[in-house]
Amino acid sequence: MTVDQSPAWAALSLHAEELRTKHLKEMFADDDKRFEKLSFSAAHCLADFSKQRITEGTLERLITLAQQQQLPQKIEALFSGEHVNPSENRPALHTALRQPKEMPLFLGDTDISKEIHCSLERMETLVEQIHNGQWRGYDGGPIKNVVNIGVGGSDLGPLMACRALNMFSADEIRDIDIHFVSSMDGSQLARLLSRIDPASTLFIVSSKSFSTIDTLANSNTAREWLVNASGLPVELISQHHFIGITASPAKATEWGIPEKNQLHFWDWTGGRYSMWSAIGMAIALHTGNSNFRKMLAGAHEMDTHFRTAPLTENLPVLLAMIGVWNINFLNIHAHAVLPYDGRLQHLPAYLEQLEMESNGKSVTLNGDQFDYSTCPILWGEVGPNAQHAFYQLLHQGTESVMCDFIAPALRYQEYGEELRAQHQLALANCLAQSRLLALGDSVLDNADNAPSHKRYRGNQPSTTLMIDELTPESFGALIAMYEHKVYVQSVIWEINPFDQWGVELGKQVATSLLDQLADTSSTNTDSSTQGLIRFVQQQRQEANS
Ligand code: F6P
Repeated sequence: MTVDQSPAWAALSLHAEELRTKHLKEMFADDDKRFEKLSFSAAHCLADFSKQRITEGTLERLITLAQQQQLPQKIEALFSGEHVNPSENRPALHTALRQPKEMPLFLGDTDISKEIHCSLERMETLVEQIHNGQWRGYDGGPIKNVVNIGVGGSDLGPLMACRALNMFSADEIRDIDIHFVSSMDGSQLARLLSRIDPASTLFIVSSKSFSTIDTLANSNTAREWLVNASGLPVELISQHHFIGITASPAKATEWGIPEKNQLHFWDWTGGRYSMWSAIGMAIALHTGNSNFRKMLAGAHEMDTHFRTAPLTENLPVLLAMIGVWNINFLNIHAHAVLPYDGRLQHLPAYLEQLEMESNGKSVTLNGDQFDYSTCPILWGEVGPNAQHAFYQLLHQGTESVMCDFIAPALRYQEYGEELRAQHQLALANCLAQSRLLALGDSVLDNADNAPSHKRYRGNQPSTTLMIDELTPESFGALIAMYEHKVYVQSVIWEINPFDQWGVELGKQVATSLLDQLADTSSTNTDSSTQGLIRFVQQQRQEANS
């Protein structure tokens, strides 16, 4: 029996029928205590679910579904290192990466907590060497530019965190610029290399597998640039200008990074869950080791809440279950992430990978195909900018979209009045948009008389996530909350959130097409691909003639 045939699912379907015609404006009119009843706090975060199309009865039924799916046992399985990733036969222990040192965690006979803290301390030593100018480039000078080369989980998390925690840059590292290069076409790298000095540039090659072609292509170009600029042998360049962060040390060594320049993590850390490991080195370089530890501590606080709080008050659980309600019972398949703080500009891209790569699945853990929906299409943008781009669709389009509004209550405390006023402006917009999406133009007195093109129907559900202030701790907690949300949904849908087989075949097909692009006689594809290859080859011939 799949979950959609279960009693708890049937009860929710029935309940959805009852609520389907109920507009959010009626729900607010019926009950002026919605906020008190439907908002919850933990670990720096307040989650207001009152603008979701739910009642307390909905939450009760959702929690019954979670219990039916044995969520408490599944949460414990995650934390204790059970093989929650069966297709790759391993645990998913990103929570262990933020556990305090004194909390042991045994995998077989090994206390992985010790190994984790060893790796963390080694990373911190390298960070200090770079900060204090001990790490030298080929001309004997200190490092001024650090370039993280990675893609997906080896890029998005560190990039997001560096931008989010920009204001926490430690004084001693003001001189070091951190850059991120991910795209395989080389455009970011080409632009960057034309404006930085090779002698004072250090590359961090971040790759769990150390076999991702995007990352290796960028790294090869970077190394060639350094060899050409310095005139030195490749071995010397690798020693002074490359650090490798990986779960595949042999491959990093084979590529040419000496072992003393490598930091390791473990195959039980999923790529998109890896910014808490040494993959986060760019974050530590940018914000300082102590802020990196604070970020881990904030995530651990959320982990503890997730592991111990009752399901009825558990933020990640509620966030996830309301998502399930929207997707499976209200048929909403689009999800917009809208931070009202420019420092969180990369959060939507990060969540795109976290949610869609984790839960964009259509077979159960046992390999059975099913009919219900899983992860929605998720996208987003900094809220105030999105207001001038796609909010038209949110307010007046034909699609139902669930939205997450995210904002800190306080900002610019140590700055002038003007910036604080700008924050107030952003908050007012955040609250206005979620209010209008929920209630439509019923917020106005005479809306009924307006022409139809000026009407706002409302009833678009949203959650508002407020954090006290954006700090390393609250940021860590926020991201951990989303990670756990994804896990909870995977438990309900009975899918594996920790593998990503859907990205593998594209890599293989690309490898075979690379040969065909070079070989004019090759025709081993469909007519579209052949036609496009022909076009490229003709352009190339004309350019060369
Ligand atoms: O192709 C998808 C993926 O495997 C992601 O899951 C991962 O985050 C990314 O590629 C990068 O992988 P790696 O860190 O092994 O280079």
